[in-house]
Amino acid sequence: MKSYKIALIKGDGIGPEIVDEAVKVLDAVASCCGFGFSYDELLMGGIAYDITGDPLPAETVAGALNSDAVLFGAIGGEKWDNLPREKRPESGLLRFRKELGVYANLRPAVVYDELANASSLKPEIVRGVDLMVVRELIGGIYFGEPKGRDANKGWNTMVYTKDEIVRIAHQAFKIAMSRQKRVCSIDKANVLDVSQLWRETVEEVAKEYPEVELSHMYVDNAAMQLIRDPKQFDVMLTGNIFGDILSDEASMLSGSIGLLPSASVGAKIGVYEPIHGSAPDIAGQGIANPIATISSASMMLRYALNENEAADKIDAAIKRALSEGYRTGDLAQFDAKEICSTSEMGSIIANYIAK
Ligand code: IPM
Ligand code: MG
Repeated sequence: MKSYKIALIKGDGIGPEIVDEAVKVLDAVASCCGFGFSYDELLMGGIAYDITGDPLPAETVAGALNSDAVLFGAIGGEKWDNLPREKRPESGLLRFRKELGVYANLRPAVVYDELANASSLKPEIVRGVDLMVVRELIGGIYFGEPKGRDANKGWNTMVYTKDEIVRIAHQAFKIAMSRQKRVCSIDKANVLDVSQLWRETVEEVAKEYPEVELSHMYVDNAAMQLIRDPKQFDVMLTGNIFGDILSDEASMLSGSIGLLPSASVGAKIGVYEPIHGSAPDIAGQGIANPIATISSASMMLRYALNENEAADKIDAAIKRALSEGYRTGDLAQFDAKEICSTSEMGSIIANYIAK
């Protein structure tokens, strides 16, 4: 029997609870699709700092590279906020992305029909939204040099090389080819030199995808358009910081940040994780929504393991749980028939798959 080796990084806060539910669902789908999983648990984030003194121990990078894919929960929390920057959980995450070379961050924002009322926007604006933010993840202002600070000044630099823009643009166009064939590239080319290079380079790459319609939008306008008329977007191609901001904004179209998955992919390996954080305020209470992580497991099956049928089964089971009115606390006000705990939601989804 085929067996996949999955690196599990549960992390901090609600991370362990939600990853456990995704594993429950993965095991259910494996036994009904005729393959298996073995799991290797690795430390990262605050918990890794507490145990080893390093938010990203070397074994974690090695273990991740030695797996077929990484399933990730969430990291961070107030407890570690006052550590020196390089010891903070977030620094571990950035180093992890860099060392794994996962340059393309795919963040879909999909509105489930059943939850069109859950958005803070009007249902007619969000019903039918299905967009994908393709965010460059290991360059730009997050990593550019020089950077630093002294008592009166702090500085970071937004740098992109042509090669970095070319490879992320290819990802966006390839993804667009399997969707509605529209890419909107987001920049600030009216102000930033780096954005001018971005725009010119994206234009060049676009020539290789004649079927895809390319448009450009300044990031401030894009932030506004996402709220005004989100259905105009198919694939949004962005640099690191613009994508960080716009993907949080896009996530709220769906009503709860607890619903949306993401994939970070590169030449070597992919990391699959919910787009939300570790929510320390609700950790350990069994009320977190595991759907974003379960949906990330589905992306893992689709993109890393090529198990599309299994991924479809998970997606259908999530939809069914929502349409039957099962809700975790974050969505309790929206047509809930039954409020369930984190682990009940995982079991409901796993059971639908088994049937
Ligand atoms: C994200 C997060 C991270 C980022 C933080 C935790 C470093 O906000 O994945 O969007 O800014 O990339
Ligand atoms: Mg973010």
